[in-house]
Amino acid sequence: MYRQVSQDTESTPRPGDDDMFNDHTSIEKQKYHHGWTKKRIAKYVSAAFVSILALYVAFTLIVVQPGSYFNKTDKLNSGRREAVRNAMKYAWDGYRQYAFDSDELLPLSGGGSNEWGGWKLTLLDSLDTLYIMELHDEFDEAKKQVADIDFTKSQSGPYTSFFEMTIRAVAGLLSAYEMSGDKLLLEKAQSVADVLFTAFDPKTQLPHRFFDVNNRVVNPSSPATIADAGSCILEYAKLSQFTGNSTYFEKAKYVYDYIINAKTTIPGLYPSKLNASTGALYGPISFGAYADSFYEYMVKYYLLNDRKDDQYVAAYNRSIESMKTHMVGQSKVDSSLSYVGAMYYNDNSGQYVLDGEYQHLTCFVPGMLALGHKTLNRPQDLELAKKLMKTCYTMYSSTRTGLAAESIWFAPVSENKTAKAIAEEYALSLNDYDAKHGFFRFYNSYVLRPEVVESLMLLYRITGDPIYQEWGWNIFSAIEEYTKTSIGYATYKDVMDKNAAKNWVDQMSSFFLAETLKYLYLLFSPNDVISLDEYVFNTEAHPFRIIK
Ligand SMILES: *[C@@H]1O[C@H](CO)[C@@H](O)[C@H](O)[C@H]1NC(C)=O
Ligand SMILES: *[C@@H]1O[C@H](CO)[C@@H](O)[C@H](O)[C@H]1NC(C)=O
Ligand SMILES: *[C@@H]1O[C@H](CO)[C@@H](O)[C@H](O)[C@H]1NC(C)=O
Ligand SMILES: *[C@@H]1O[C@H](CO)[C@@H](O)[C@H](O)[C@H]1NC(C)=O
Repeated sequence: MYRQVSQDTESTPRPGDDDMFNDHTSIEKQKYHHGWTKKRIAKYVSAAFVSILALYVAFTLIVVQPGSYFNKTDKLNSGRREAVRNAMKYAWDGYRQYAFDSDELLPLSGGGSNEWGGWKLTLLDSLDTLYIMELHDEFDEAKKQVADIDFTKSQSGPYTSFFEMTIRAVAGLLSAYEMSGDKLLLEKAQSVADVLFTAFDPKTQLPHRFFDVNNRVVNPSSPATIADAGSCILEYAKLSQFTGNSTYFEKAKYVYDYIINAKTTIPGLYPSKLNASTGALYGPISFGAYADSFYEYMVKYYLLNDRKDDQYVAAYNRSIESMKTHMVGQSKVDSSLSYVGAMYYNDNSGQYVLDGEYQHLTCFVPGMLALGHKTLNRPQDLELAKKLMKTCYTMYSSTRTGLAAESIWFAPVSENKTAKAIAEEYALSLNDYDAKHGFFRFYNSYVLRPEVVESLMLLYRITGDPIYQEWGWNIFSAIEEYTKTSIGYATYKDVMDKNAAKNWVDQMSSFFLAETLKYLYLLFSPNDVISLDEYVFNTEAHPFRIIK
């Protein structure tokens, strides 16, 4: 439907098109042979010239400049890129029209929600996407709105998230500042950061998960996680670079070092929960929710500093080696499907046990491994990345809508234990079992998440294999077909049900604009648009220029 294949190369004149080579009948041939005139000779000479010219052009296109041969691919990609840009414009216009003063658009009822403090979160998260997609009028208008945001007050009570505001608000402002050079954006980034540092526990110097902006006190009731606390070093390194004030970086580095140097049972694998009051780490080990970007930033920090500061590279190597040894499993039915599960501590055996749940969130791992390979030359990691990527794509391609479930669980089926028996044992519905691939779908909703297209973009740029573009296009097409409402894009309740309107949920998360659409756009853009050699993406897809 969206394919826009160029006809240009097909319409190039070919030798057979010229009457000189037309072998209609032998009589005609005869006639030509005996009827040569000067005029005719001139015609044939010019026809021959045209043919030779055509051959020459074709030769230059195909052999001398192989890049041009891919004109077709370029056209296809630019059509796809344009379709993604239109989706961004659509989502943005909906937000702008119905929810410009709010954090997020309600894409069904046409209002706004302020669950993130009322800081116009979608706007902050979208600035650099608008800029990259060259939606300049939209960017300029949005930028002006930033002046009015009051980061000293919150509409969401004691639940402002240090992590989400760091990766979305601070990073969004910093990256938009770096692209546009508008000082106001930097001042605002600094003012959010100054408020966010309220989250730090005065005793441990570790950030709590939530804090109360209005009363400037921490909310100690929810444990922090290693992702919450340990994914801010890129953002605050950048803020310190721009402001010349090293405090931001030092505070972030203290937290990162604290976690990385913690004593662990398995080298390089960390429990995902963190009690910020005591500094205790506990709970399951995972590369998904609560842990993900803590690992992601180890190699990204090295890249951000132009490969000059390798203090977290050994930690990265250690974590990845242990992950490969302990946390990678395989479908019992289709051995081409690998996953990274989570590990739970078993009190009886005194050991960690691998569980086969693979979350959509964990699908950032193939991209991380590919980037780790590009940076540190770890070819085996790239092979694993390709396998994990296939599983992540299968999460989409195996459903009726082509959208992925939030999570899948690779069932321990065996010759002695059927899927039916497992379904009964764990109170699961056999309807959610995918017999061909050997997993149960867990939580059938698709919330417009980015991790799979993020990894597709990184794998495409690093391997050059166009299959990743095809997969990304299929995912985008499903998003267009099923989640697009008359106002924006909606979270989808059941990816196995094709009745779209029945499945829409009134929510369009800001990361859809910040990440999902940005990574799709870059997947179909030339590699020098936000080149991986010049930029590092924070975990919300905000690109930071490498610090030289
Ligand atoms: C942190 O640990 C302290 C001391 O054990 C405990 O009182 C508190 O409830 C814990 N906090 C969380 C969020 O679990
Ligand atoms: C650097 O930033 C911190 C945190 O906002 C602030 O307390 C400190 O006064 C600043 N230092 C300088 C030299 O401006
Ligand atoms: C990390 O792993 C890469 C690839 O095996 C290796 O070249 C590099 O020396 C390792 N770095 C550290 C600090 O362990
Ligand atoms: C299945 O049961 C048989 C007989 O009890 C046993 O020999 C075999 O090892 C079991 N297979 C698996 C995969 O557990």
